[in-house]
Parts: sequence; structure tokens; C-alpha cells
Amino acid sequence: MIKVAFYDAKPYDKPSFENCGEPRGLQFRFLETKLNEDTVELANGCDAVCVFVNDDVNAAVINRLYKLGVKLIALRSAGYNNVDVRAAFGKVHVVHVPAYSPYAVAEHAMALLLTSVRRIHKAYNRTREFNFSLSGLTGFDLHGKTVGVVGTGKIGRIFIDICRGFGMNVIAYDRYPAEDSGIAYVPLQELFRRSDIISLHCPLTDDTRHMIGADAIAAMKKGVVIVNTSRGGLIDAEALLEGIKERKIGAACLDVYEEEANIFFEDRSGHILNDDLLSRLISMPNVIVTSHQAFLTEEALTNIAETTVSNILSYFEKDGVCDNELCYRCGNIERCKKERKERCF
Ligand code: NAI
Repeated sequence: MIKVAFYDAKPYDKPSFENCGEPRGLQFRFLETKLNEDTVELANGCDAVCVFVNDDVNAAVINRLYKLGVKLIALRSAGYNNVDVRAAFGKVHVVHVPAYSPYAVAEHAMALLLTSVRRIHKAYNRTREFNFSLSGLTGFDLHGKTVGVVGTGKIGRIFIDICRGFGMNVIAYDRYPAEDSGIAYVPLQELFRRSDIISLHCPLTDDTRHMIGADAIAAMKKGVVIVNTSRGGLIDAEALLEGIKERKIGAACLDVYEEEANIFFEDRSGHILNDDLLSRLISMPNVIVTSHQAFLTEEALTNIAETTVSNILSYFEKDGVCDNELCYRCGNIERCKKERKERCF
């Protein structure tokens, strides 16, 4: 039996992981708590830990996991900005799920955008109270609008296809533009200047943190709609709020928030929210917040469980080489991964 401490377990995680992992020799220790320095001891006796986006896998946690004899950190997410992969080098291997349903995220981005520009969230509440007035519900056509897509990887490209289906003009920025993709790449500043809608689909890195800040917002069109289904840290939320209060930003659709770690994924309805910035954003009529829900489809949950279980099994049972292992020696995690034929260490 391969023992796996499964942190931040939610009711919707358990069935897919149990069905997929237990018949194949994995034994899960489901833990409701997140992984951090205070909870790392709960992995004692386990061969691997399975973590999600808000587990804090910093250097101290990794050192403790190493001392406990944990061999593998299995992320059940694509993003890995919450894992100090450099600190893991030489100690604990890290695998992730590079793609589980890019459609789920891209479709959620479009759902948020449509909800916002057609005021569906307002209409839903009104008709439930038999208020059939249309005042204040005027939207705008997406057809003919320019959407700027930042990050043209798996999710960004599907979102581009969806936007093209709506007859939108697509421009994009990517640090590594995809050659021969037919995508109209422009510099980031030009994208900010020209876009009616901006949708973020790049990872959170030191380079991308707060890429939407006061300067970027100043460069944007008045009335711009910003969609973020990627990572909260891409946006400086204080600058976003200022942009909304100044009527510069027309709407914001946020599935992620920089300080979401201790807020999202839980029912906080009976509590006073200790985050004034988020409270203020949610109070705005032109802000829609979902709590990191973009991935949450049946298809994605099944794919996440299957890939995570395969990652763990390939690490422990085969020659230890896993295509989805992150390579942290050279620092060029994505490119190196494609070239690597053996374990990083
Ligand atoms: P991907 O790796 O296929 O694509 C990322 C793209 O961003 C690549 O084309 C890359 O070249 C580009 N990029 C890297 N650095 C950049 C920079 N400095 N500026 C502009 N572009 C840059 O990743 P995928 O699968 O499309 O996911 C995108 C992001 O979506 C993930 O990093 C993750 O944070 C987020 N995500 C959110 C989910 C949710 O439930 N809200 C679920 C899954 C992913």
C-alpha cells in the first residue's frame, strides 16, 4: 500500500480519488486541514502528500516532509506557485496535473463574462422576487469587441476559440508566443490599450505578479472588463478597486483573489469577513466573484484523480520517471520537463 496524506480534502474530492486510487493500491488519509508548518506532522508515516492550490508548501514544510520520509508531493492542480520547487530539489519530488479540463476553466471565464455584460446575476435575483423591470440591465454585444488574452497556453487558446465563436476580435500577449498559431500577438501595453475585455490565462510568477496594477489600469480603455480565472496575485486588488471606484473599469469577473487562501472553498456565511478589500469588491454591482470554481466539472474531477493517481504510481512503481514531474534544477520548469528522460535527481 502506498500511503498518501491528502490535505485540504473536500467532499467532492473523495469519491473520485477513492474510486480511482484504492483499487490500484493507494491508501488515502483524507485531512480537512491545509498543509502548512503547523499541520505537516499529519503526514507522518505517509509516502506522499497530495496537495491543492492553497496548501502552503514552503521550504520549511518541504524540509519537514523530507525528514518525515515523504518522497513525493503530488499536486492535484496545474499551477504550482504555492510550492517552493527550488527548495524541493534534492529532497522531495514534485508532480502536478498539467491539464485536466482546460475547457472547464475557459468555459467558466466565458460564463463569468456573459453573466457580467448581460447582468444575468442582477436579473436572476430580480425575477426571484417577481421584479420584472429591465431598468439598469442594459448590456453590450460581445460581437465585434476586442478581447485581449494574456497567456495563450491550453486554457487561453480554448478561450480564444470560444471568443472567436462569438465574433470577437482577439489579440493576445504571451511571453512565449506560439508560432504558426494564427493568433495576433501584440505587446502587453498595446493589449492593455486596445482591449474592451482582458482575460488572464498566464501563470503566477515573479514576473507576472500584479501585472494588472495602477499603471496597467491607467493604460486601459475606459469601461474595460477584466476577467481573472488564473491566479489572484496577477491583479493588485487595491488598484483594481480604485479603478472600479474611478469608473475606469467597467466590470471585474474574479474566480481567484490574491488573499483567497483562508477564505475560499469554505462556508463563511455566518461569519464577519476579515478582508475589507474583498468585502468592498463583492459589494460592487459590477464585480462578480466565484470562489476558485472554474475547474469544478465532473470531467475535470475525474481527470484530476486519474492523473494524480497515475503520477503517484509511476513514481513509486515504475522506474520512477513521471512525465508530470516538475524539474527544478535548471529553473526552466516547463521547457526542461519536455526534454527530460530521467528523474531530476
Ligand atoms: P499553460 O502552461 O498551458 O499556459 C500558460 C501560458 O502562459 C503559456 O503559453 C506561457 O507561455 C504563458 N506565460 C508564461 N509566462 C508568461 C508571462 N510572463 N506573460 C504572459 N504569458 C506567460 O497553462 P494553462 O493550463 O493554460 O493554465 C493557465 C493558468 O490557469 C494556470 O497557471 C493556473 O494558474 C490557472 N488555472 C486556474 C484554474 C481555476 O480553477 N481557476 C484551474 C486551472 C488552471
